[in-house]
Amino acid sequence: MANRWTNTLSQSDVTPEAAFLNRRQLIAGAAAGFGLAGVAGVSNAQEALTPNSWEDITQYNNFYEFGTGKTDPAEYAGALTTTPWTVEIDGMVKNPGKYDIDDIKAAMTIEERIYRFRCVEAWSMVVPWNGFELADLLEVAGVQEGAKYVAFETLYRPEEMPGQRFQSLDWPYVEGLRLDEAMNPLTLMATGIYGKDLPNQNGAPLRLVVPWKYGFKSIKSIVKITITDKEPPTSWNKANAREYGFYSNVNPNVSHPRWSQASERMIGGGLFAKRVPTLMFNGYEDEVASMYEGMDLSKQI
Ligand code: MTE
Repeated sequence: MANRWTNTLSQSDVTPEAAFLNRRQLIAGAAAGFGLAGVAGVSNAQEALTPNSWEDITQYNNFYEFGTGKTDPAEYAGALTTTPWTVEIDGMVKNPGKYDIDDIKAAMTIEERIYRFRCVEAWSMVVPWNGFELADLLEVAGVQEGAKYVAFETLYRPEEMPGQRFQSLDWPYVEGLRLDEAMNPLTLMATGIYGKDLPNQNGAPLRLVVPWKYGFKSIKSIVKITITDKEPPTSWNKANAREYGFYSNVNPNVSHPRWSQASERMIGGGLFAKRVPTLMFNGYEDEVASMYEGMDLSKQI
Protein backbone atom coordinates (compact mmCIF):
# COMPACT_ATOMS: atom_id res chain seq x y z
CA MET A 1 0.00 0.00 0.00
CA ALA A 2 2.78 2.35 0.94
CA ASN A 3 4.35 2.17 -2.48
CA ARG A 4 1.32 3.38 -4.37
CA TRP A 5 3.06 6.74 -4.40
CA THR A 6 6.71 6.40 -5.23
CA ASN A 7 7.64 10.07 -5.03
CA THR A 8 7.66 10.12 -1.25
CA LEU A 9 10.47 12.13 0.28
CA SER A 10 11.49 11.41 3.81
CA GLN A 11 13.71 13.18 6.28
CA SER A 12 16.49 10.70 5.50
CA ASP A 13 16.25 11.78 1.88
CA VAL A 14 17.01 15.38 2.61
CA THR A 15 19.57 15.06 5.40
CA PRO A 16 22.49 15.09 5.82
CA GLU A 17 23.29 18.08 3.72
CA ALA A 18 25.23 16.11 1.10
CA ALA A 19 22.21 13.94 0.42
CA PHE A 20 20.00 17.02 0.36
CA LEU A 21 22.21 18.67 -2.26
CA ASN A 22 22.18 15.49 -4.29
CA ARG A 23 18.43 15.44 -4.30
CA ARG A 24 18.28 19.07 -5.33
CA GLN A 25 20.47 18.23 -8.32
CA LEU A 26 18.35 15.21 -9.14
CA ILE A 27 15.18 17.25 -9.05
CA ALA A 28 16.66 20.05 -11.11
CA GLY A 29 17.84 17.44 -13.61
CA ALA A 30 14.50 15.69 -13.74
CA ALA A 31 12.63 18.94 -14.17
CA ALA A 32 14.96 20.05 -16.95
CA GLY A 33 14.75 16.67 -18.64
CA PHE A 34 11.00 16.51 -18.71
CA GLY A 35 10.44 20.21 -19.09
CA LEU A 36 8.29 20.15 -15.99
CA ALA A 37 8.63 23.72 -14.90
CA GLY A 38 10.25 27.04 -15.66
CA VAL A 39 13.31 28.12 -13.75
CA ALA A 40 11.34 29.96 -11.09
CA GLY A 41 9.12 26.95 -10.48
CA VAL A 42 12.05 24.60 -10.18
CA SER A 43 13.97 26.72 -7.71
CA ASN A 44 10.84 27.28 -5.67
CA ALA A 45 10.18 23.55 -5.54
CA GLN A 46 13.72 22.88 -4.42
CA GLU A 47 13.70 25.42 -1.63
CA ALA A 48 10.38 24.08 -0.49
CA LEU A 49 12.01 20.75 0.31
CA THR A 50 13.76 22.24 3.34
CA PRO A 51 11.37 21.56 6.20
CA ASN A 52 10.48 24.36 8.57
CA SER A 53 11.71 24.10 12.14
CA TRP A 54 9.70 22.38 14.85
CA GLU A 55 9.23 25.83 16.38
CA ASP A 56 7.83 27.38 13.19
CA ILE A 57 5.41 24.50 12.74
CA THR A 58 4.17 24.37 16.33
CA GLN A 59 4.12 28.06 17.34
CA TYR A 60 2.36 29.67 14.37
CA ASN A 61 -0.98 27.94 13.89
CA ASN A 62 -4.58 28.29 12.87
CA PHE A 63 -6.90 26.33 15.15
CA TYR A 64 -9.91 28.53 15.91
CA GLU A 65 -11.17 26.12 18.56
CA PHE A 66 -8.40 27.65 20.71
CA GLY A 67 -8.69 31.24 19.53
CA THR A 68 -8.16 33.20 16.34
CA GLY A 69 -4.60 34.39 17.05
CA LYS A 70 -1.60 32.57 15.61
CA THR A 71 -0.12 31.84 19.04
CA ASP A 72 -3.43 30.94 20.76
CA PRO A 73 -3.29 27.24 19.75
CA ALA A 74 0.21 26.79 21.20
CA GLU A 75 -0.89 28.61 24.36
CA TYR A 76 -4.22 26.90 25.00
CA ALA A 77 -4.28 23.53 23.21
CA GLY A 78 -2.24 21.84 25.94
CA ALA A 79 -5.45 21.50 27.95
CA LEU A 80 -7.05 19.22 25.37
CA THR A 81 -7.38 15.59 26.44
CA THR A 82 -6.51 13.32 23.54
CA THR A 83 -6.62 9.98 25.35
CA PRO A 84 -8.87 8.08 24.98
CA TRP A 85 -9.77 9.09 21.42
CA THR A 86 -12.12 7.39 19.00
CA VAL A 87 -12.86 8.07 15.36
CA GLU A 88 -16.35 7.18 14.20
CA ILE A 89 -16.58 5.99 10.62
CA ASP A 90 -20.12 5.93 9.30
CA GLY A 91 -22.34 6.44 6.26
CA MET A 92 -21.81 4.44 3.10
CA VAL A 93 -19.28 1.93 4.45
CA LYS A 94 -19.36 -1.81 4.96
CA ASN A 95 -17.66 -1.61 8.36
CA PRO A 96 -19.06 1.34 10.27
CA GLY A 97 -18.01 1.81 13.88
CA LYS A 98 -16.13 3.78 16.50
CA TYR A 99 -12.47 2.94 16.23
CA ASP A 100 -9.81 3.62 18.85
CA ILE A 101 -7.00 5.82 17.50
CA ASP A 102 -4.37 3.37 18.80
CA ASP A 103 -5.98 0.51 16.86
CA ILE A 104 -6.10 2.64 13.72
CA LYS A 105 -2.44 3.63 14.06
CA ALA A 106 -1.39 0.04 14.70
CA ALA A 107 -3.21 -1.18 11.60
CA MET A 108 -1.92 1.47 9.21
CA THR A 109 1.50 1.94 7.66
CA ILE A 110 2.90 5.15 9.15
CA GLU A 111 5.33 6.88 6.84
CA GLU A 112 6.99 10.25 6.57
CA ARG A 113 5.87 12.74 3.94
CA ILE A 114 7.49 16.12 3.48
CA TYR A 115 4.84 18.38 1.99
CA ARG A 116 4.49 22.02 1.14
CA PHE A 117 1.65 23.57 3.14
CA ARG A 118 -0.04 26.71 1.80
CA CYS A 119 -2.55 28.64 3.89
CA VAL A 120 -5.26 30.64 2.11
CA GLU A 121 -3.86 33.66 4.02
CA ALA A 122 -0.83 33.49 1.68
CA TRP A 123 1.80 32.10 4.04
CA SER A 124 3.46 28.74 3.66
CA MET A 125 5.64 26.17 5.38
CA VAL A 126 7.20 22.82 4.61
CA VAL A 127 6.19 20.15 7.08
CA PRO A 128 7.67 16.67 7.62
CA TRP A 129 4.45 14.84 8.51
CA ASN A 130 4.08 11.29 9.75
CA GLY A 131 0.89 9.52 8.86
CA PHE A 132 -0.91 7.09 6.62
CA GLU A 133 -2.83 7.39 3.39
CA LEU A 134 -6.53 8.10 3.85
CA ALA A 135 -7.08 5.60 1.01
CA ASP A 136 -5.77 2.82 3.25
CA LEU A 137 -8.25 3.66 6.00
CA LEU A 138 -11.12 3.88 3.51
CA GLU A 139 -10.09 0.51 2.13
CA VAL A 140 -10.41 -1.05 5.57
CA ALA A 141 -13.73 0.72 6.17
CA GLY A 142 -15.04 -0.64 2.85
CA VAL A 143 -16.54 2.15 0.77
CA GLN A 144 -19.93 1.22 -0.70
CA GLU A 145 -20.86 1.64 -4.31
CA GLY A 146 -22.45 4.99 -5.09
CA ALA A 147 -20.39 6.90 -2.51
CA LYS A 148 -19.01 10.19 -3.84
CA TYR A 149 -17.68 12.26 -0.93
CA VAL A 150 -15.96 11.99 2.42
CA ALA A 151 -16.98 14.33 5.26
CA PHE A 152 -14.85 15.05 8.33
CA GLU A 153 -15.69 16.49 11.72
CA THR A 154 -13.52 17.93 14.50
CA LEU A 155 -14.13 17.34 18.20
CA TYR A 156 -16.68 19.63 19.86
CA ARG A 157 -15.65 20.12 23.51
CA PRO A 158 -16.01 23.74 24.63
CA GLU A 159 -14.79 22.88 28.18
CA GLU A 160 -11.36 22.19 26.68
CA MET A 161 -11.58 24.26 23.51
CA PRO A 162 -12.14 27.83 24.68
CA GLY A 163 -12.59 29.21 21.15
CA GLN A 164 -15.77 27.13 20.82
CA ARG A 165 -17.42 29.38 23.40
CA PHE A 166 -17.45 32.07 20.68
CA GLN A 167 -19.19 31.91 17.33
CA SER A 168 -16.04 32.64 15.31
CA LEU A 169 -17.18 29.63 13.24
CA ASP A 170 -20.21 27.37 13.33
CA TRP A 171 -18.98 24.45 15.51
CA PRO A 172 -18.00 21.72 15.12
CA TYR A 173 -15.47 22.44 12.35
CA VAL A 174 -16.35 20.32 9.32
CA GLU A 175 -14.63 19.62 6.01
CA GLY A 176 -15.04 17.40 2.99
CA LEU A 177 -13.39 15.95 -0.09
CA ARG A 178 -14.64 14.30 -3.22
CA LEU A 179 -14.03 10.55 -3.01
CA ASP A 180 -11.34 10.58 -5.72
CA GLU A 181 -9.53 13.37 -3.87
CA ALA A 182 -9.78 11.38 -0.65
CA MET A 183 -8.34 8.32 -2.41
CA ASN A 184 -5.47 10.24 -4.01
CA PRO A 185 -2.17 8.85 -2.71
CA LEU A 186 -1.07 12.34 -1.62
CA THR A 187 -3.98 12.63 0.83
CA LEU A 188 -2.58 11.93 4.26
CA MET A 189 -4.03 11.32 7.71
CA ALA A 190 -1.29 12.82 9.86
CA THR A 191 -0.43 11.44 13.28
CA GLY A 192 2.91 13.16 13.81
CA ILE A 193 5.52 15.73 12.82
CA TYR A 194 9.29 15.15 12.83
CA GLY A 195 8.69 11.59 14.07
CA LYS A 196 6.92 12.80 17.24
CA ASP A 197 3.19 12.57 17.99
CA LEU A 198 1.24 15.55 16.65
CA PRO A 199 1.26 18.40 19.17
CA ASN A 200 -2.29 19.36 20.15
CA GLN A 201 -2.01 22.70 18.38
CA ASN A 202 -1.37 20.89 15.10
CA GLY A 203 -4.48 18.73 15.41
CA ALA A 204 -3.71 15.79 17.70
CA PRO A 205 -4.20 12.94 17.54
CA LEU A 206 -5.34 12.75 13.90
CA ARG A 207 -5.71 15.41 11.21
CA LEU A 208 -6.14 15.51 7.49
CA VAL A 209 -3.39 16.86 5.19
CA VAL A 210 -4.31 17.70 1.59
CA PRO A 211 -1.17 19.39 0.27
CA TRP A 212 -2.57 20.76 -3.02
CA LYS A 213 -5.44 22.58 -1.28
CA TYR A 214 -5.47 25.62 0.98
CA GLY A 215 -4.65 24.72 4.57
CA PHE A 216 -8.16 25.09 5.93
CA LYS A 217 -9.16 21.87 4.12
CA SER A 218 -6.69 20.06 6.39
CA ILE A 219 -9.09 19.60 9.29
CA LYS A 220 -7.66 18.93 12.74
CA SER A 221 -8.48 16.63 15.68
CA ILE A 222 -10.91 14.46 13.72
CA VAL A 223 -13.58 12.46 15.57
CA LYS A 224 -15.83 11.50 12.70
CA ILE A 225 -15.49 10.46 9.05
CA THR A 226 -18.68 10.00 7.01
CA ILE A 227 -18.83 8.49 3.53
CA THR A 228 -21.71 10.00 1.59
CA ASP A 229 -23.17 10.58 -1.86
CA LYS A 230 -23.82 14.30 -1.21
CA GLU A 231 -21.33 17.17 -1.20
CA PRO A 232 -20.80 17.84 2.50
CA PRO A 233 -20.92 21.32 4.07
CA THR A 234 -17.55 22.83 4.97
CA SER A 235 -16.88 25.34 7.74
CA TRP A 236 -15.26 28.17 5.79
CA ASN A 237 -17.73 27.84 2.94
CA LYS A 238 -20.57 28.14 5.47
CA ALA A 239 -18.88 31.20 6.96
CA ASN A 240 -18.33 32.93 3.59
CA ALA A 241 -19.31 31.07 0.41
CA ARG A 242 -18.08 33.85 -1.88
CA GLU A 243 -14.56 33.67 -0.48
CA TYR A 244 -14.16 29.94 0.23
CA GLY A 245 -15.32 27.21 -2.13
CA PHE A 246 -15.65 23.47 -1.62
CA TYR A 247 -12.56 22.69 -3.70
CA SER A 248 -10.14 25.37 -2.49
CA ASN A 249 -7.31 24.09 -4.66
CA VAL A 250 -4.22 26.27 -4.41
CA ASN A 251 -4.34 28.44 -7.53
CA PRO A 252 -2.05 31.43 -8.09
CA ASN A 253 -4.27 32.63 -10.96
CA VAL A 254 -7.43 33.07 -8.92
CA SER A 255 -7.28 35.83 -6.33
CA HIS A 256 -9.07 35.70 -3.04
CA PRO A 257 -11.65 38.52 -3.21
CA ARG A 258 -9.53 40.47 -0.71
CA TRP A 259 -5.94 39.59 -1.70
CA SER A 260 -3.79 38.05 -4.42
CA GLN A 261 -2.85 34.37 -4.30
CA ALA A 262 0.01 34.78 -6.77
CA SER A 263 2.73 34.63 -4.12
CA GLU A 264 3.26 33.51 -0.56
CA ARG A 265 5.37 34.38 2.47
CA MET A 266 7.52 31.48 3.63
CA ILE A 267 7.33 31.23 7.41
CA GLY A 268 10.76 31.10 9.03
CA GLY A 269 13.79 33.21 8.31
CA GLY A 270 12.43 36.02 10.49
CA LEU A 271 13.47 39.39 9.10
CA PHE A 272 14.62 37.68 5.91
CA ALA A 273 11.40 35.72 5.32
CA LYS A 274 11.01 35.29 1.60
CA ARG A 275 8.08 35.86 -0.70
CA VAL A 276 8.00 33.29 -3.46
CA PRO A 277 5.61 32.61 -6.35
CA THR A 278 2.75 30.28 -5.50
CA LEU A 279 2.63 27.15 -7.64
CA MET A 280 -0.48 25.72 -9.28
CA PHE A 281 -1.93 23.05 -7.00
CA ASN A 282 0.86 24.07 -4.60
CA GLY A 283 3.40 22.26 -6.77
CA TYR A 284 1.46 18.99 -6.99
CA GLU A 285 0.00 19.60 -10.44
CA ASP A 286 1.37 16.40 -11.97
CA GLU A 287 -0.23 14.30 -9.28
CA VAL A 288 -3.65 15.95 -9.09
CA ALA A 289 -4.52 18.08 -12.13
CA SER A 290 -6.22 15.19 -13.95
CA MET A 291 -8.92 15.06 -11.27
CA TYR A 292 -10.13 18.51 -12.32
CA GLU A 293 -10.11 18.14 -16.11
CA GLY A 294 -13.08 19.86 -17.67
CA MET A 295 -13.74 22.02 -14.61
CA ASP A 296 -13.54 25.82 -14.75
CA LEU A 297 -11.17 26.39 -11.84
CA SER A 298 -11.86 30.11 -11.81
CA LYS A 299 -15.52 29.36 -11.01
CA GLN A 300 -15.38 26.12 -9.05
CA ILE A 301 -13.11 27.53 -6.39
N1 MTE B 1 -9.06 22.51 11.74
C1 MTE B 1 -9.86 22.88 12.75
N2 MTE B 1 -10.59 21.97 13.39
N3 MTE B 1 -9.97 24.19 13.15
C2 MTE B 1 -9.27 25.17 12.51
O1 MTE B 1 -9.41 26.36 12.88
N4 MTE B 1 -7.68 25.74 10.74
C3 MTE B 1 -7.29 25.38 9.37
C4 MTE B 1 -6.68 23.98 9.32
N5 MTE B 1 -7.48 23.04 10.09
C5 MTE B 1 -8.41 24.82 11.43
C6 MTE B 1 -8.31 23.43 11.09
C7 MTE B 1 -6.39 26.35 8.78
S1 MTE B 1 -7.05 27.85 8.32
C8 MTE B 1 -5.08 26.06 8.56
S2 MTE B 1 -4.06 27.12 7.67
C9 MTE B 1 -4.46 24.82 9.08
O2 MTE B 1 -5.37 24.04 9.84
C10 MTE B 1 -3.28 25.19 9.95
O3 MTE B 1 -2.56 24.05 10.32
P1 MTE B 1 -1.28 24.21 11.22
O4 MTE B 1 -1.64 25.03 12.40
O5 MTE B 1 -0.87 22.81 11.60
O6 MTE B 1 -0.24 24.89 10.37
